[in-house]
Amino acid sequence: MESEIENHTTFKNLLIETERLIIRPYQLEDTKDLFNTISEPNFYDYIPETPPTIKEVEEIIQWSMDCNNKNTLEKIYKLNLGIILKESNCFIGFCGLGPYDLDSTKIEIYYGLNIDFRGRGLTTEAAKALVNFGFFTLRLDEIVTTVFPQNVPSVRILEKIGMTKQYSIISPPKEHIDFKGMDYYTITR
Ligand SMILES: CC(C)(COP(=O)(O)OP(=O)(O)OC[C@H]1O[C@@H](n2cnc3c(N)ncnc32)[C@H](O)[C@@H]1OP(=O)(O)O)[C@@H](O)C(=O)NCCC(=O)NCCS
Repeated sequence: MESEIENHTTFKNLLIETERLIIRPYQLEDTKDLFNTISEPNFYDYIPETPPTIKEVEEIIQWSMDCNNKNTLEKIYKLNLGIILKESNCFIGFCGLGPYDLDSTKIEIYYGLNIDFRGRGLTTEAAKALVNFGFFTLRLDEIVTTVFPQNVPSVRILEKIGMTKQYSIISPPKEHIDFKGMDYYTITR
């Protein structure tokens, strides 16, 4: 019973506040802003995925909201969160935690920021807060991620939040061939 109450509070009313940011679950009203964020021409240069259409973004947000209704401390389906800049109350990016594609027993962190707001340490601020939330509220033991070494700003963020490179992915399984050449990073509680 106690853990049910805790689960409910942890995911449904989730709000992470930092000095400059509010981080909270996606809402359908975020569709346009999220689409704008990821539609910048170079956004997917180092992400092994195809850019979605605005219709697909809306479906992703709906699916994320459904996942958040199912998320528990024992099983995170997907925790997709919007990053809101306090000073303007604008949606400026996303971050999240979810099962790692190459090993679904592990939880990975990911993020992306609207190009107009980069270079101010805002993603680092969000990622740091999300790692703390993962460790101290969700009680995760470990958080992992992958990054192409050429994605210098992202590598820098991982270093700044205390993640450590473990190895380069040289021979991923066929169905995840897009991960070839990425570096695998971890941090433990
Ligand atoms: C990666 C991304 C989120 C960075 O966002 P950001 O808000 O600019 O990041 P921050 O300002 O918190 O930190 C970036 C760091 O990289 C550094 N940096 C940025 N560009 C750099 C470059 N070309 N060379 C060296 N360092 C660079 C910045 O100086 C900063 O480090 P510092 O604080 O020590 O000075 C943003 O570029 C993005 O959304 N990219 C597209 C999506 C993506 O690649 N996501 C990650 C997938 S692994």
